[in-house]
Amino acid sequence: MGAYNEAFESSVSDRESFWLTAAAEIEWHKAPTVALDDTQAPIYRWFPDGRLNTCHNALDRHVAAGHGDRMALIWDSAMVGEVRRYTYAELLAEVSRFAGVLAARGVSAGDRVIIYMPMIPEAAIAMLACARIGAVHSVVFGGFAAPELATRIDDAEPVAIITASGGLEPGRTVEYLPMVARALELSETAPSTVIVKDRPQIAGSSDEHDGWLDWDTEIADAAPVEPVDVAATDPLYILYTSGTTGKPKGVVRDNGGHAVALAWSMTNIYDIAPGDVWWTASDVGWVVGHSYIVYGPLLAGATTIMYEGKPVGTPDAGAFWRVVSEHRAKALFTAPTAIRAIRKADPDAKLLAEYDVSSLKNLFAAGERLDPDTFEWASSVLGVPVVDHWWQTETGWAIAANLRGLEPMPIKAGSPTVPVPGYQVGIVDADGKPVDAGVEGNIVITLPLPPGTLAGLWRDEERYRSSYLKAFPGTYLTGDSGYIDADGYVFVLGRSDDVINVAGHRLSTGSIEAVVASHAAVAECAVIGIHDDLKGQRPSGYVVLKAGVEIEPDTLRDELVTMVRDEIGAVATFRDVTVVPALPKTRSGKILRKTMRQIVDHEEYTVPSTIEDVDVLSALAKQLG
Ligand code: COA
Ligand code: AMP
Repeated sequence: MGAYNEAFESSVSDRESFWLTAAAEIEWHKAPTVALDDTQAPIYRWFPDGRLNTCHNALDRHVAAGHGDRMALIWDSAMVGEVRRYTYAELLAEVSRFAGVLAARGVSAGDRVIIYMPMIPEAAIAMLACARIGAVHSVVFGGFAAPELATRIDDAEPVAIITASGGLEPGRTVEYLPMVARALELSETAPSTVIVKDRPQIAGSSDEHDGWLDWDTEIADAAPVEPVDVAATDPLYILYTSGTTGKPKGVVRDNGGHAVALAWSMTNIYDIAPGDVWWTASDVGWVVGHSYIVYGPLLAGATTIMYEGKPVGTPDAGAFWRVVSEHRAKALFTAPTAIRAIRKADPDAKLLAEYDVSSLKNLFAAGERLDPDTFEWASSVLGVPVVDHWWQTETGWAIAANLRGLEPMPIKAGSPTVPVPGYQVGIVDADGKPVDAGVEGNIVITLPLPPGTLAGLWRDEERYRSSYLKAFPGTYLTGDSGYIDADGYVFVLGRSDDVINVAGHRLSTGSIEAVVASHAAVAECAVIGIHDDLKGQRPSGYVVLKAGVEIEPDTLRDELVTMVRDEIGAVATFRDVTVVPALPKTRSGKILRKTMRQIVDHEEYTVPSTIEDVDVLSALAKQLG
């Protein structure tokens, strides 16, 4: 049996010993004697009697082992043209002192802290400082506008907010402080502490807001604090992600399972050892950033690169190759969109030839399906394995992957390869019956999920059960559809719900619809994710006007685009609006979004038998097809 089959088999049939062995890679205050607590199934807990501190494992233990001089974090900003390096000892010193700042302000274990920051080292420092004192961080992506931030503040009820004066986007600055101020006006929760990292490039500072504190002043004379030990099952963070409704889901990650799973993944999936240089080009606001900019590489004792910039335009499509070559990255993890953007700007990879990227051994892609065309291009220009792997905010690490450290397997274009040990992936039809190899259906995972996956949704167990556990009892519903071929390779084809994926960012069409529907001229609307050559998908809105309303289509479009930008954020990338006479619906009133998408994307479709008025669909097909 190969190493992969052996590990997979053992992770399922000998679960206790497999995960307790993996847990031995982590330093515990009290080592767990049990891997899985299944007494409350289908709610599971990992390492129920273990105690540890995640920050200690990410920093202190490496310094204590004599690796304090090893590089921990390299911040490379293409936006300000600066590189900052932190050794493990230096990062530990910063984190311990910032943890001291939080502790001095009364933040303690179990308290929530919202982090709304751009891609600067202080974002990682803030996360690790929370982990150090047992506080639960919730990072909110900088591309979200004030109302989205307010929703998260009200759900998480933080005692503190840590932010920066702003972020830098090509050609503009994004001022965070007015957004934080507005979010606090909109929300019912009043955190007692707001700490601001001032960036010289951006207007606005903590001085302009009564009672807000300046990061630099606070940290200057802060006393470092030691890590506290927490239960393995205590929450490390809450990360909000889009569901099918407008209300985001607060995915809760525990401390113990998370540390064990990420450490295991760095070795077995990514083939990264202590001292290796690792680069994830994402944002700390997404799960990929949590797991693989901050926690995974540091738990592994590797060097993590944190990049502020874009794949193109900062200054050109050679940016990624410059970073790989300058810092000698062994692996790069990014979203397929980024590769498509580079290819579009530099189809012959001429800029790649200007850099020595010989350090690069693997390119990992996730966030959306790696389409075969992009896979072929990246493989041919780079000459290294281009490894698609599939996961979600909920799982926190890969469900299916080509395990480069454990046992590299042949790559099939369009497939993230095989289920990762611990994940029993299956495909079922609408009635929950397993389907044959090659047949498309709902992708489910037999419970229990492995360590590191969501412990639940923040203070909403009912929603956790109804969203994920109810559809097909005994399994976790991924929300993706796809198939498994005769060789056991998984193929993920897309979401089976109203979640869309824009440039590797997950968005809810429901929340965009809610904003569009609130416009005075709109009677009803549908927002669907249509194909986009660069971003994979983009949201496209179809609106029916109220009777008697007259408005220029361009005016309506501009107003709706501004509303979505103000309410959700620039990241929604909402630009298309089409006025239609009516929306096609089923007899029970459900809008036929899938059929609409198929029409717009020029795919074949069948007229659903439940359709209310077939003429509406025909008219729409004529207008949009
Ligand atoms: N703060 C504020 N605004 C942000 C932001 C942030 N952190 N990130 C993005 N935005 C804004 C952008 O400025 C843009 O605004 P605009 O409409 O005024 O131009 C908008 O949100 C859309 O951003 P994006 O989807 O990033 O599009 P883009 O056209 O600026 O860039 C790519 C296109 C392909 C370069 C970019 O999408 C990319 O790098 N994709 C990779 C995605 C990725 O790493 N995903 C993580 C999952 S692994
Ligand atoms: P997020 O929670 O933002 O990470 O988004 C998760 C969703 O992105 C998944 O449910 C999939 O729909 C999609 N996704 C992520 N990675 C892949 C991949 N490698 N292949 C196909 N879809 C993916």
